Amino acid sequence: MTTAKSDPTTIRRLYGRRSGHKLRQGQAALVEELLPAVSVPEEGPVDWTRLFGDERPLHFEIGFGSGEHLAYRADLLPDHGFIGCEPFLNGVVGALVHIRDKHLPNVRLHMGDALNVLERLPDASLRFVYLLHPDPWPKARHAKRRMVNHGPLDLIAAKLQPGGEFRLGTDDPTYCRWSMMIMNQRRDFEWLAESAKDFLTRPGGWPETRYEAKARRKGHEVWYFRYRRA
Ligand SMILES: C[S@@+](CC[C@H](N)C(=O)[O-])C[C@H]1O[C@@H](n2cnc3c(N)ncnc32)[C@H](O)[C@@H]1O
Repeated sequence: MTTAKSDPTTIRRLYGRRSGHKLRQGQAALVEELLPAVSVPEEGPVDWTRLFGDERPLHFEIGFGSGEHLAYRADLLPDHGFIGCEPFLNGVVGALVHIRDKHLPNVRLHMGDALNVLERLPDASLRFVYLLHPDPWPKARHAKRRMVNHGPLDLIAAKLQPGGEFRLGTDDPTYCRWSMMIMNQRRDFEWLAESAKDFLTRPGGWPETRYEAKARRKGHEVWYFRYRRA
C-alpha cells in the first residue's frame, strides 16, 4: 500500500485541538452508542467490504468539520459509501447527528487524522476526495503543515481511481495561490476549469459548509477547485 513517506517533510499531525465545549447528555450518548457502530476500524486494511459489506463507489472527506457536506452527499448518493475523517470531537458529534436524523447507513467516520485511514485503503479505490476549507496555516514557516503538499497529494493520487475527482475549496487567498502552484506542479491531476467562472462559482452537488458560510459572512471570496485524477 502507498504511504506518504515519499515526502519526509509532511507533518502527520496537521490538526490542533480535539475538543471544544463540553458535550450535552444526548451528544455524549451518540458518541458512546452510535460512534462505535459507524467507526472505521482502528487498524488493518480498510476496503469496501470491511466497511459496507459490498463493493461500491467510495467518497472520502478530509476534515469534515460538522459534517454537513458529508451528510448532504451521502443523502444524495445512497448507493455510494462515504468515509469522513475529523479529529475534532464536537465536529464528529455534528456528523453523528446528521447520520441519525437523515438515516444515513452509508457513512463511516474516523475521529482522527485522515491520512491514517487514507494509507490503509486499497490503491485506486476512491471515486471522490473532498478537502473543504483546510486549515490555512497562513505563516510561510508553517506551509509544510498544509494538507495541500506533495506528501498528502501523493497519497490522495494513489487512492483515487483514474478519472476520480479531488475537490478542494478555500476562502484563504494564500492557500488558494499555494494550492494552484502546488497542483500545477503535478502531472497526475488535471484541473477541470475552462474559465474563471468554473472556480469562482459553486459547482452543482457541492453544498456550502459551515466554515464557508462563515467566510462568506465575513465578505471573503471562495474558490472551488476540481481536479480529475489522470
Ligand atoms: C477550517 S476547518 C473546515 C471544516 C469543514 N471542512 C468546513 O468547511 O466547514 C478544517 C478542519 O480540518 C480538520 N483537520 C485538520 N487536519 C486534519 C487531518 N489531518 N485529518 C482530518 N481532519 C483534519 C480540522 O479539525 C478542522 O475541523
